[in-house]
Amino acid sequence: MKKFKTGIVGAGFIGIAHIENLRRLGNVEVIALSDRFDAEKKAKNLYIEHAYENYQTMIKELDLDFIHICTPNNTHFEIAKFALENNINVILEKPMTFTVEEAEKLTKLAKDKKLINAVNFHNRLYPTNIHIKNILHSKEIGDVISISGAYLQDWLLFDTDYSWRLNSKESGLTRAVADIGSHWMDLVEYLTGLRITEVLAEFKTQYPKRKKPIGNVESFSKSIDQEYKEVEIDTEDIALLLFKFDNGAIGSSTISQMSAGNKNNLNIEISGTKASIKWSLKDLENIYLGYRDEANKVIPKDLSITGDAASAIDYPAGHTEGFPDAIKQVFKEVYNQPEIKHYATFSDGLRQMILCDKIYQSAKNRQWVKIEE
Ligand SMILES: NC(=O)c1ccc[n+]([C@@H]2O[C@H](COP(=O)([O-])OP(=O)(O)OC[C@H]3O[C@@H](n4cnc5c(N)ncnc54)[C@H](O)[C@@H]3O)[C@@H](O)[C@H]2O)c1
Repeated sequence: MKKFKTGIVGAGFIGIAHIENLRRLGNVEVIALSDRFDAEKKAKNLYIEHAYENYQTMIKELDLDFIHICTPNNTHFEIAKFALENNINVILEKPMTFTVEEAEKLTKLAKDKKLINAVNFHNRLYPTNIHIKNILHSKEIGDVISISGAYLQDWLLFDTDYSWRLNSKESGLTRAVADIGSHWMDLVEYLTGLRITEVLAEFKTQYPKRKKPIGNVESFSKSIDQEYKEVEIDTEDIALLLFKFDNGAIGSSTISQMSAGNKNNLNIEISGTKASIKWSLKDLENIYLGYRDEANKVIPKDLSITGDAASAIDYPAGHTEGFPDAIKQVFKEVYNQPEIKHYATFSDGLRQMILCDKIYQSAKNRQWVKIEE
């Protein structure tokens, strides 16, 4: 069996999750890591043979099959472009790029080069979500009339909390929306097959200035007793979003990185003409179906569940498959070509870049903005 040779660019929070979950597949060897900071030390700690501070040298020197790009958003384009031009398959972290134009260029380049391309919208790959997609497709809940929900976190609650994401020069025009709102919107469009046609957004930036620790801060890490400098914040902490969908359904979502007590809480409720369906990251192994004139139902993740959701189940019912497992399932599908099943491609990544851009325009101009197809 062929063993793929893979290089990782960026070994922070999510880069390490990529390495761990690639290793679980068995047919992928993570042979190299590139990181701008402490590449040697990070590679040694992760038992990776080759370390590079410069991703170009890594790509030129090694005969890689895939690279995974796990760096801040403003670097995704140049790294992905260089990899694709060198005929390497690319898995990008979300948001796909810094601008819509960059995402368009990468989508075209990957298509012209016929290279495998993916964006890690891993929430699609929870088995319960694949099952929800099947239920919605079967019209068991009737026609979708409204969709509501939220993606709430609290790791940026205090003005001493800091991440590169807070700076639009690294993050892009939107922060909370691009960072976690894109997961919510990608999941809703994936599950329902509906397309968002119009958006209205209200943004709030609680702290116009934050205290940035002096030195490098990795995501979700806490900085205690450090020296700070005050920096201006030009991205949103919270976004309230309204949506119109192409079948006439309406929707709303609250996106916040300042909701105390919510560590990583994505939830969705889809109401149809016959029933409604609910899912949440806090209870990710159960699907809740609600009825008006019969008993409500809870469907657990189980190998006996219908459709192709079984392809994303590697452990029996009652044995939770969570965040790392969903990422593993994305990689399993991507490396197991030519079948394309559920994972998000560059086209899906571009779609989210367009939605984020329209949401930014809406918040800035305080009006509904249409999404042209
Ligand atoms: N799919 C998900 O659920 C998920 C979760 C977290 C982060 N992400 C995405 O992953 C990306 C990275 O986020 P993170 O939270 O891991 O950030 P992080 O700050 O924890 O790690 C980023 C790493 O990239 C390195 N780096 C920075 N610039 C570089 C460059 N030019 N070349 C090589 N290395 C470089 C940094 O030294 C650091 O090790 C972002 O795009 C983010 O949106 C996705």
